[in-house]
Amino acid sequence: MKNIKATITALCLCAAPTIFAQQNNLPLIPQPAKVVQGDGTFTFSPTLKVWADAYDGDSIKLVLQQFEQKFTPATGTHFKYGGKSATMQLRCNKHLGNEAYTLNVTPKQIVIEAAKPAGFFYALQTLQQLLPSRNAMAGVPDSTIASWTLPAVSIADAPRFGWRGFMLDEGRHFYGKREVMKIIDMMAAYKMNRFHWHLTEDQGWRIEIKKYPKLTEVGAWRHSRTLGYGETVPDGERYGGYYTQADAREIVKYARDRFIEIVPEVDIPGHSQAAVASYPEFLACDPQNPHQVWLYQGVSADVINVSNPRAVQFANDVIDELTGIFPFSYIHLGGDECPVYKWQHNADCQKQLKELGSDNYRDLQINFYHQLQQHMAQKPQHEQRKLIFWNEVLHGNTAPLGKDITIMAWIGADAAAQDAAKRGMNTILSPQIPYYINRRQSKDVWEPRSQGWGTETVEAVYNYVPMKGVPDALQSKYLGVQANFWTEWVEDASTVQYLTFPRLAAVAEAGWTPQSERSYTNFEQRLQAEPAFYKAAGVNYGKHVFGKTKDKAQ
Ligand code: ACM
Repeated sequence: MKNIKATITALCLCAAPTIFAQQNNLPLIPQPAKVVQGDGTFTFSPTLKVWADAYDGDSIKLVLQQFEQKFTPATGTHFKYGGKSATMQLRCNKHLGNEAYTLNVTPKQIVIEAAKPAGFFYALQTLQQLLPSRNAMAGVPDSTIASWTLPAVSIADAPRFGWRGFMLDEGRHFYGKREVMKIIDMMAAYKMNRFHWHLTEDQGWRIEIKKYPKLTEVGAWRHSRTLGYGETVPDGERYGGYYTQADAREIVKYARDRFIEIVPEVDIPGHSQAAVASYPEFLACDPQNPHQVWLYQGVSADVINVSNPRAVQFANDVIDELTGIFPFSYIHLGGDECPVYKWQHNADCQKQLKELGSDNYRDLQINFYHQLQQHMAQKPQHEQRKLIFWNEVLHGNTAPLGKDITIMAWIGADAAAQDAAKRGMNTILSPQIPYYINRRQSKDVWEPRSQGWGTETVEAVYNYVPMKGVPDALQSKYLGVQANFWTEWVEDASTVQYLTFPRLAAVAEAGWTPQSERSYTNFEQRLQAEPAFYKAAGVNYGKHVFGKTKDKAQ
């Protein structure tokens, strides 16, 4: 909120007529906090003189160079780095918030101000959307454009929330580096800043852990591509894949360059059958029985034996390696949908619960996390990570975990988020309905096989109001919003894209734009520019808000 106020104040000072964002007809997504349209246009010449203020590690210049790599091939305009009177100027303004920026375009000049490289990055995303062809956002030329121009405009912008996330489940299906990078590109274009990477599941473990090689030798592979559910039966194909640590580091750099933090999720102790199948001797509650990577959808009862000290050691070791790969603020330890049946029938688990003085088996899970948290607390400061959990952990006694954890609220999300905030914890809104954007996005007959009934339309997703009715005193606990993509039914990356877009744009706007500036009618109009972007970027997208014909569906 502070960021927005600072930038709006800055804009008001320049005595221009006030025009609220929704009244402009510029195809910007997410809608900026404040837009004032001016008169005339700026026209790019074959050479553009640019200036960027100095910054640590020359990182403003690096942002500009990244922009140039798409802008120049698309438009034919070359940059000439020159003096302070340059035509396009990137100037530091320490009064703006970390992600805020101002963008002023007149027929003569382009001036961008921000306090941090992220602000400049976001200003340049906005600038790209103001160009006459969306091809420019993908670095693709457009021969129909005779002259590359920008409308005169004054924008003062800052995000509503600091957390604007997207989660991809690669436990169920593995898509690979190229597809993940494509999603990161799209998130960056929409000014999203957290990629939550769901890396482990009952059906597959997708990240190399050097201390436990069987996690990827055994846990990354299963005997069916399609996951059994109802009348759908496993097909017997050997299927799987995983990211080496080198792959993951490459993706980390790619995301970092685009101001996106990766939040790796290792979902333990539930949703862990692939791990249990890899090391049943110390992870299984019943090591005497056979265990295999799961071939079905749903929630497996084959959870980690949290009472085994070797299971705790395993989790600590995994956290240590994750910490080395992902240099960001958070690690997500899952915590959703963890059946306690096997604990109820295991003598060591029964004994541990008694020692804890509880009769709620969920408290075994909390105790497990508490030990991992204590391990993390002993690390040097730069290796410490904040922990995130799905909201089911609130069903246990969370007191041992303290307040310094974050709850990702998905089931009964609004109530769960308020519960977390009242307990003094931070929270993120990722309501299953309508932010699980793997669900069918329309009732059209050609909608791909997935979950849901087609009611999670772009409009339904857009119209969710984050933090509605939340008392002022709790609002600071709400970090932001996140869309989630679960992949039980989605075997190929093209279908992931089809279901993700354009709904991700709707969530991005909820995360960025002040609620007072949001209107679905206006959004749908602005959205009409996006298919050109998706086509240039080589990304599939849902068609139901762009006119319905069968041949447009894939
Ligand atoms: C979840 O949807 N199981 C977090």
